[in-house]
Amino acid sequence: MAAARTYRIAVYPGDGIGPEVTHEAVRALRAAETRLGGFALELTDLPWGAAYHAAHGAVAPTDYLEQLRGFDAILLGAVGMPALLPDALTLEPLVTIRQAFDQYVCLRPARLMAGVRSPLARPGAIDFLVLRENSEGEYLRVGGRAKQGTPDELAIQTAVHTRKGVERALRFGFEQARRRRRKLTMITKSNALVYGMTLWDELLVEVAGDYPDVAAERQHADAAAMDFVRRPERYDVVVASNLFGDLLTDLAGAIVGGLGLAPSANLNPERTAPSLFEPVHGSAPDIAGQGVANPVAAVLSAAMMLQWLGLPSAAEAVRGGVESALRGGAATPDLGGRLSTSAMGDAILRHVAAGAAGSSR
Ligand code: NAD
Ligand code: IPM
Ligand code: MN
Repeated sequence: MAAARTYRIAVYPGDGIGPEVTHEAVRALRAAETRLGGFALELTDLPWGAAYHAAHGAVAPTDYLEQLRGFDAILLGAVGMPALLPDALTLEPLVTIRQAFDQYVCLRPARLMAGVRSPLARPGAIDFLVLRENSEGEYLRVGGRAKQGTPDELAIQTAVHTRKGVERALRFGFEQARRRRRKLTMITKSNALVYGMTLWDELLVEVAGDYPDVAAERQHADAAAMDFVRRPERYDVVVASNLFGDLLTDLAGAIVGGLGLAPSANLNPERTAPSLFEPVHGSAPDIAGQGVANPVAAVLSAAMMLQWLGLPSAAEAVRGGVESALRGGAATPDLGGRLSTSAMGDAILRHVAAGAAGSSR
């Protein structure tokens, strides 16, 4: 019999609720590993973040990219501890990893699961996928500040949109749409941002020509914000620039029950460097340390990691465990329930171990 393949995973829990929810994600991974067999996970804990800064004067070792490069994947909790350190410092490794490892696709599914209440009055069936361009746009550090502290102080932050960057994001989006309901909505703001966003508009027309079987449309970001609330069922695959994708995926999380449920995958599609899996949410300092954070987003992010590693049955086991737990009424306070983070993790684990079946994606 062939030896089980071992996958090397870097676990970067980070700050605030990051370690709390990552702990549950790791338990779910171990449960899937035990139940399914045939693969092994070698997890390496990287205790980086605000606490690391207190001891070492930096949130991560200077060679953190080199340390991470050899792993098969990275599982991240959340970063940021604004009461202690500026976000610019604590968030820097995450943004740098995405760009340095060319994780140019950020996939953020939004699906209203059975047993979860949407805050929308008439939610209907919500099931769409946001693809956020993740390597450039508004997030490249291009700009500067001058005349600081004077009345003439100025700050410039330049968005960078390249043909290559936009086109590869769109192509990935069209490929996803082909596996779903064959509809793609590209979000821009080309009526106001008339240089960068008109490039997006032109490239949509070009790329759509190669996907005649997918219905392609575009929408301005302000109108999209309205339709995410008013009629989210209109969306299948949504492609957006880095910042618009960031904003819209907090909203997407909210309409399917809250940020505690929303997973994400930062993908390097060419697999030239590890991809990174993390919840959409942040470190939630307002509830950190209370044991009440919802671990579902972290657990579902771990499931996306298993899928990416080529372990669809294991991914399905984890996803199915979450869905069964939610369907059965398991809920943390953000969902209107009373379960602690670890009790929610227990509920998920029971269903993973019992082999609950989830939906197909
Ligand atoms: P946040 O996502 O941390 O929290 C927003 C709200 O959602 C809070 O009320 C919080 O309690 C709630 N929430 C988030 N996750 C939850 C969960 N799993 N269960 C229950 N409730 C949850 O956003 P914020 O407060 O704007 O940011 C806090 C810090 O996190 C900042 O430093 C910010 O820069 C950082 N941040 C990091 C990431 C990341 O690591 N990817 C993402 C967003 C924000
Ligand atoms: C997210 C976060 C990050 C982002 C922060 C932490 C830089 O909000 O992953 O959604 O804006 O991309
Ligand atoms: Mn965000």
